[in-house]
Amino acid sequence: MAAERSCGRRPGFQGGRSLWMVAAVQFLLLLSISARKDISHGNVKGRSSSRTEASTGHPVNLQVTKDLVVMDNGMVQVSLSNPGGYVVAIKYGGMDNLLEAHNKANDRGYLDVVWNWPEESSKIERVAGTKFSIITQTQDIVEISFLRTWEKSSAAYVSPFIIDQRYIMRRGISGFYYYTIFEHQKQWPAFRIDQARVVFKTNGEQFQFMAISDYKQRVMPTPDDRTTGKPLAYPEAVLLTHPSNPDLKGEVDDKYQYSSESQDTRVHGWISKDPVVGFWMISTSDEFRSGGPVKQELTSHVGPTTINTFMSTHYVGREMETYFADGEPWKKVFGPFLVYLNSDPHQGNYSALWEDAKRQMLIDAESWPYNFTQSEDFPPSSQRGTVTGQLLIRDRYISKKDLWADSAYVGLAAPGEAGSWQTETKGYQFWARADTSGSFTITNVRAGAYNLYAWVPGTVGDYKYETTVTVTPGSLIKLGSLVYESPRSGPTLWEIGYPDRTAAEFHVPNPSPLLLNKLYVNLKPDWFRQYGLWERYGELYPEDDLVFTVGTSKYQKDWFFAHVTRNKGNSTFEPTTWQVKFELRDVSPKETYTLQLALASATFSEIQVRFNDPKMGKPLFTTMLIGSDNAIARHGIHGVHHFYSIQVPGSYLQKGSNTLYLTQARARGLFEGVMYDYLRLEGPPNSL
Ligand SMILES: *[C@@H]1O[C@H](CO)[C@@H](O)[C@H](O)[C@H]1NC(C)=O
Ligand SMILES: *[C@@H]1O[C@H](CO)[C@@H](O)[C@H](O)[C@H]1NC(C)=O
Ligand SMILES: *[C@@H]1O[C@H](CO)[C@@H](O)[C@H](O)[C@H]1NC(C)=O
Repeated sequence: MAAERSCGRRPGFQGGRSLWMVAAVQFLLLLSISARKDISHGNVKGRSSSRTEASTGHPVNLQVTKDLVVMDNGMVQVSLSNPGGYVVAIKYGGMDNLLEAHNKANDRGYLDVVWNWPEESSKIERVAGTKFSIITQTQDIVEISFLRTWEKSSAAYVSPFIIDQRYIMRRGISGFYYYTIFEHQKQWPAFRIDQARVVFKTNGEQFQFMAISDYKQRVMPTPDDRTTGKPLAYPEAVLLTHPSNPDLKGEVDDKYQYSSESQDTRVHGWISKDPVVGFWMISTSDEFRSGGPVKQELTSHVGPTTINTFMSTHYVGREMETYFADGEPWKKVFGPFLVYLNSDPHQGNYSALWEDAKRQMLIDAESWPYNFTQSEDFPPSSQRGTVTGQLLIRDRYISKKDLWADSAYVGLAAPGEAGSWQTETKGYQFWARADTSGSFTITNVRAGAYNLYAWVPGTVGDYKYETTVTVTPGSLIKLGSLVYESPRSGPTLWEIGYPDRTAAEFHVPNPSPLLLNKLYVNLKPDWFRQYGLWERYGELYPEDDLVFTVGTSKYQKDWFFAHVTRNKGNSTFEPTTWQVKFELRDVSPKETYTLQLALASATFSEIQVRFNDPKMGKPLFTTMLIGSDNAIARHGIHGVHHFYSIQVPGSYLQKGSNTLYLTQARARGLFEGVMYDYLRLEGPPNSL
């Protein structure tokens, strides 16, 4: 133990990558890492252990007054309102308050929920604690709670939950941890919740540089720049016409351009000007987030605002609304996450701060699930289980042997239909990527009953393992080989796109030079995040709609990424019909062909399918009205995935030239439309 402590480093900390650090910052990090080791040796529950000064740093101090609770570990001081539990000040790195001191005390760092009673409109509640308590307090760690419960008398404005907000400060960690526990009790009434998130608003004079990934980093406009700018067709988007920073003139600002999939949202935040300080949201697990690993949420955006979203309808829409029945008991832990602060006082090197924040994220990822939280509702690693297996794909029209489900997404979520995880909000989800052989290991799974779900990039459809997987504390469940028979009725006659639940492989047009977000100009894979791309359809196809000819057209350049409406001006819009032209050498009129149709997104749309007769009154198939994910307007390259296997009687087809007509029949507005993921026409079965 002594040797371990004096070493005080984690594997990977040493070496070239850390050389950039100024001595002071390196020292702080060493402290933080050794402090973590100390705590690991049994000091969590309140006993104090002896230690040498060099390995520790300041003890954690807690001061409680009538109005304020202050946690301080010599590096960071966090002040919370008592008993509300709002973060009112974060003192760090020579700044008295990293948060926006001009804002009211409940508008700097807070939890809010969007909810409503049945038949009533939604309301936003900024959650205010009513009872403060100290959960644990030692020299190494302080955990405090701001609790609020619910009574019928406050039903007009308080959502029917017990909400326990927990803050943790640890010795030697430059920041603080947060988690919250929501509980709806048995005897409580029905209601609906659409969103729950934690928001931090940092000092706007100081924090103007935002970083959300290695490549997505930029100087941001201010809220005033948005006010003086020109609102665009989608309300969140503004053209900056009079920004305080002239460099930003002519750019578009829209918070949705900075959204990110849950699986990629591990660290994001802001850097201040003088002193140079980083404010980071580090969230290493998404087990508590709704909708699985590709659910998109906001990250950081103009404010300066930094968000950690637990549940929301963004990029999914109505299907994500969460209804609680009368008397439905429910409890869920959101978090924990870390608000991490760093500084580079001598050099003011922004990328050094970003790299350091990523390093801290990796350290935290290694120690997930955290073992210093006190709530029994957040189980440690020893009370969780592991599920392993190997996923194979069976598609006899591709291979006689089963194929490895290379890089499959495999996850455990609440029992439901195949694919139900993408709108599932009440339970926890645990996802892993399979290796090239389809082998997967899902670790740190909370005890409970799950279905195992999967999808495989390059293969259509959704897999569900029919047997319920029941995870018990400490269990290792080996599922062995699982076979996914992907949708398939006959040999491929033609296909368009790549089945991966996004439209990224299709033609994403050049943005209008008058509507740029300069961040994305040189980031080709992110071009879909530019504003107004939907308008380019009308410019590319001013009179006639898109025609794709199998054999000569290339989906990468000839298939527009979104099937949108035609803007006729004067707020009128028209349905559009795309054509796929293809040749058939011969047709079996008595047999059934199949059109596999996968959509990456849909917003108040209806896709009608016709073959060879565009005027056919009743389409061969219609999706009916589907979707409200708004991914086109919000610059996502996917929203909710929809999949259809459409039977096509051979009598609808003919020898020689054929045309598939795809009509997006709903055209009330600019943002209605679908994004395709993949289309495949299959011949009749047994023609193998
Ligand atoms: C800033 O930090 C980055 C990343 O650590 C490093 O590569 C770069 O050399 C540093 N720049 C300066 C001027 O120190
Ligand atoms: C707590 O977690 C840390 C970091 O993962 C680990 O090193 C330590 O052994 C754990 N302590 C206990 C008591 O499980
Ligand atoms: C647009 O609507 C106005 C008012 O109804 C009408 O006068 C005008 O002719 C319309 N323009 C077009 C292009 O249809």
